[in-house]
Amino acid sequence: MPAPVIVATDLVKKYKDFAAVDGITFEVAPGESFGLLGPNGAGKSTTMRMIGAVSTRSSGSLSILGLDPNEHGPAIRSQLGVVPQQDNLDTELRVRDNLLVYGRYFGLPRAQVAARADELLEFAQLSDRAKAKVDDLSGGMKRRLTIARALINEPRVLLLDEPTTGLDPQARHILWDRLYRLREQGTTLVLTTHYMDEAEQLADRLIVVDKGRIMAEGSPASLIREHSSREVLEVRFGSERNATAAADLAGIGDRLEVLPDRILLYAHSGEEALAEVTRRGLEPITSLVRRSSLEDVFLKLTGRSLIE
Ligand SMILES: Nc1ncnc2c1ncn2[C@@H]1O[C@H](COP(=O)(O)OP(=O)(O)OP(=O)(O)O)[C@@H](O)[C@H]1O
Ligand SMILES: [Mg+2]
Repeated sequence: MPAPVIVATDLVKKYKDFAAVDGITFEVAPGESFGLLGPNGAGKSTTMRMIGAVSTRSSGSLSILGLDPNEHGPAIRSQLGVVPQQDNLDTELRVRDNLLVYGRYFGLPRAQVAARADELLEFAQLSDRAKAKVDDLSGGMKRRLTIARALINEPRVLLLDEPTTGLDPQARHILWDRLYRLREQGTTLVLTTHYMDEAEQLADRLIVVDKGRIMAEGSPASLIREHSSREVLEVRFGSERNATAAADLAGIGDRLEVLPDRILLYAHSGEEALAEVTRRGLEPITSLVRRSSLEDVFLKLTGRSLIE
């Protein structure tokens, strides 16, 4: 077994008395794509900042590429690519110059940085914007530039904090494809998201975090198998009847979840559950059968939705 790239043991980050990260333990293997999935305030970005060696831990131990960030911050940072949650591009500089300056900051030779910058503009589909001002880019273009910039030093580990938040569906798919290719080339990816589809697409393995703690860990498929049924039937009865309809649905499927706008019935076969709903003379306004997702896992574990 190759040595893990990241080892976190009982990792804690406190702000005064409040534990934003409250004792989490995990390992990331080389070449793995590892996800942190959780709602707002779960402690994802706080964890990423500790991994990125820009925020010190309060207690526990942490090793990045075999080094302790408390002692080897610069050595660790030189081997990481970091995409923070908020773009922090240099808006004074033009698009290509952002990449050049960042590359020079890592002490890379000028000619090498220039060649790499052009490759990355291509990668981020920003070649035709090379001379544009950063401020004139759209939100999604800025995001792509931030990701390109994070790759300038050919990092062994890429940290991505909500990489696709704010991107349109097409841009998200392009980015997923790019990240997939990096993974194929052996780059270790650590990403946070509150999009379950993104976690399912990109993460080999993930931890579900809530309130600074790990609620579950595994591959997307194994988490779904372990914590949810095969299918889900979603029925809507309208805001008036939604709460009362739940009583009439009791016993259908394995489990039932009442949300403000709909009721979720967890069952091996959603169609059979729907047939039973109809047999009982209940007439939902809409019904939908779908496969279980990570959203259902999160709902089961915490009683809340990922996106509130
Ligand atoms: N510098 C800080 N000072 C005080 N509290 C902080 C600080 N940074 C984060 N927190 C708190 O720590 C908790 C976790 O924040 P964090 O940014 O890690 O969450 P997150 O999982 O990234 O959420 P989101 O999905 O909204 O980005 C929150 O309650 C937040 O208010
Ligand atoms: Mg965050």
